[in-house]
Amino acid sequence: APDASKVEAEVAVVGAGAAGLYAALTAARAGARVALVSATALAQTASYWAQGGLAAALAPDDSPDLHRRDTEIAGRGAVRRSAAALLCREAPRAVRELEALGVRFDVDAAGDLALGLEGGHSRRRVVHAGGSATGRRVVRQLSAVVVEEPGVTVLEQARAAAPWTVDGRCIGVVLEDGRVVRARATILATGGAAALWARTTNPPGSLGTGVMLARSAGAALADLEFVQFHPTAVTGIPGREGFLITEAIRGEGATLLDARGERFVEELKPRDEVSRAIAEKLIEEGSANVWLDMRHVDPLLFPNVVGALRESGLDPATELIPVSPASHYCMGGVVADLDGASSVPGLYVVGETACTGLHGANRLASNSLTECFVEGKRAALAGIDEPALPAVAGDPPAATPIAAPSQATREALWRDAGLTRDRAGLERLRDDPHPLARLVAACAILRQESRGAHFRADFPETDPALDRHHAVVAGDETPA
Ligand code: SIN
Repeated sequence: APDASKVEAEVAVVGAGAAGLYAALTAARAGARVALVSATALAQTASYWAQGGLAAALAPDDSPDLHRRDTEIAGRGAVRRSAAALLCREAPRAVRELEALGVRFDVDAAGDLALGLEGGHSRRRVVHAGGSATGRRVVRQLSAVVVEEPGVTVLEQARAAAPWTVDGRCIGVVLEDGRVVRARATILATGGAAALWARTTNPPGSLGTGVMLARSAGAALADLEFVQFHPTAVTGIPGREGFLITEAIRGEGATLLDARGERFVEELKPRDEVSRAIAEKLIEEGSANVWLDMRHVDPLLFPNVVGALRESGLDPATELIPVSPASHYCMGGVVADLDGASSVPGLYVVGETACTGLHGANRLASNSLTECFVEGKRAALAGIDEPALPAVAGDPPAATPIAAPSQATREALWRDAGLTRDRAGLERLRDDPHPLARLVAACAILRQESRGAHFRADFPETDPALDRHHAVVAGDETPA
């Protein structure tokens, strides 16, 4: 009888958010046997929580080139142009592919795709579903398609504990329950690490699992200092702390007000600028929040945000919403080429786990879901071309669960690697017990300037000499 503790596949995909589902589906439809390792229930993936949508140049007045320019401007001199050009060129196709898989995006009165506006975009280009329920709709539909796909075996409630490497090549993963998946290509799509920060918009599982797994396989990491803080997360409302109020609401005219009821920032600037303006305002006022005024925005456009606020006793049609920044997205991660290949043969990374350089120092709104589909597909197609595995490969490594961060670590990251950093705080963080926190500190210490999401109080200016410079932590390196 086959050994149930060993799963043989051609492609192993770890993570069942947007990038993982799409990679699994693409590989299976190209004829590969796929094992999809899914730790969390669907509703706990960051993709499922995504409110904005997919950025894609679809409007008559738009072009992939304009989209690329906006991506590069938002990324503050740190965007890898080839990654941005690829994403923006492929984005419209990704939208069409999802439609072909049964995802129904919102349309306007003429039946054309309704395009939302978000910060840093010079055109309306955010495709959405159910108003701000985009992630939920897309992930649900893709999951339904994937479970029906004969080539995909879904391993549910399964957590990856360690990559399996032999002679420097990744040949699969070991799960916490002791099962082993052997595959010629392993694709990590476990999302980011923003929930390592005490105040976050992310689901609690966004703890950098993929980055930690890849590092233990010897993969290079980069840009860990670039962590985006979303400007408008609910604050001070019990049970809703960190709840995201999508930027698309500002795209429909909502404004940000200070304690005197006055506007203080252009609401549709890129996220780093808006978050920084809020952070400065909070210090100036000594307040815990600023106010989002969405009283004039049609509540029917954003039913799930409005519904959640009303459940919490706040009516956005008549009341102001208390908001402040919260950690939201890691621009950095595992170094990957444009096929998602990491520096370890056989190991691929996609979505927020990866750092292709696409987002530079500050991701443009709604480029992340688009990236999941564009890069998820490319990694799958590259992965199926990996050479077959040798017949015998020795014993897999032990299945030691990845340690969860303590609350003290989460608070230390928020305090010492939050919206404002300086050397003293980062030095403190470098001694934190959590290895990813130490790596973030090491990258942030190296970048002696302020750029995008990384603001150093002791180096408040951008240093043009550091344009397109990336802090890379090689696989075998222990940062000082
Ligand atoms: C939002 O809807 O404001 C978040 C979208 C994103 O993270 O790009």
